[in-house]
Amino acid sequence: MQLRPETPADQPGVRAVHLAAFEGPDEADLVNRLRGHTFPYVSLVAVDKGRIVGHILLTPVLLPGHPRARLMGLAPMAVLPDYQRSGVGSALVEAGLDAARQAGAGAVVVLGHPAYYPRFGFVPASRHAIACPYDAPDEAFMIVELMPGHLAGLAGTVEYHAAFAGIEGAAP
Ligand SMILES: CC(C)(COP(=O)(O)OP(=O)(O)OC[C@H]1O[C@@H](n2cnc3c(N)ncnc32)[C@H](O)[C@@H]1OP(=O)(O)O)[C@@H](O)C(=O)NCCC(=O)NCCS
Repeated sequence: MQLRPETPADQPGVRAVHLAAFEGPDEADLVNRLRGHTFPYVSLVAVDKGRIVGHILLTPVLLPGHPRARLMGLAPMAVLPDYQRSGVGSALVEAGLDAARQAGAGAVVVLGHPAYYPRFGFVPASRHAIACPYDAPDEAFMIVELMPGHLAGLAGTVEYHAAFAGIEGAAP
């Protein structure tokens, strides 16, 4: 299995992964809406025998009142059902966080499974006084600091890109 940045030729394969992993097209559509519309934009694919089997996307989120905060949101991410639970997702998260750090992110937030993300260093964002704009359980909105000290002095409710509007329940 190979991990690499998404290229234009990967777009149908990326869409197929999200359509297969999630119940509806919301996440696949979200990727199409975000593609190329943010900077930085971290989009990685996992490839096995020439087939795209996993995808992860990280795009910037804002923290109102803190223009120097460099936060990114991890969403969406998916692995083809046949490839799940074999480490593809973990490899994508680790590579995605590395790429986000290289792109200048000081921390990454995720709204996701509280049993999954702590293994990568995520903690409830509320511990750092960072809140989710959506109605989500406290432990499901998590953050990992990528640059030591980046979260010191930050507080507030993050703002996702407008492309997330309307699908907040399912997307991240
Ligand atoms: C979540 C997802 C990306 C994980 O990818 P993966 O390749 O299966 O993950 P890995 O093989 O690296 O890790 C497997 C671990 O994740 C856990 N895991 C997988 N899906 C999980 C879920 N829905 N809830 C909780 N834990 C989950 C497994 O229990 C396993 O834990 P273990 O190592 O303690 O046994 C993948 O299952 C997926 O695409 N799910 C459907 C879409 C989705 O929910 N996306 C993420 C939104 S936060």
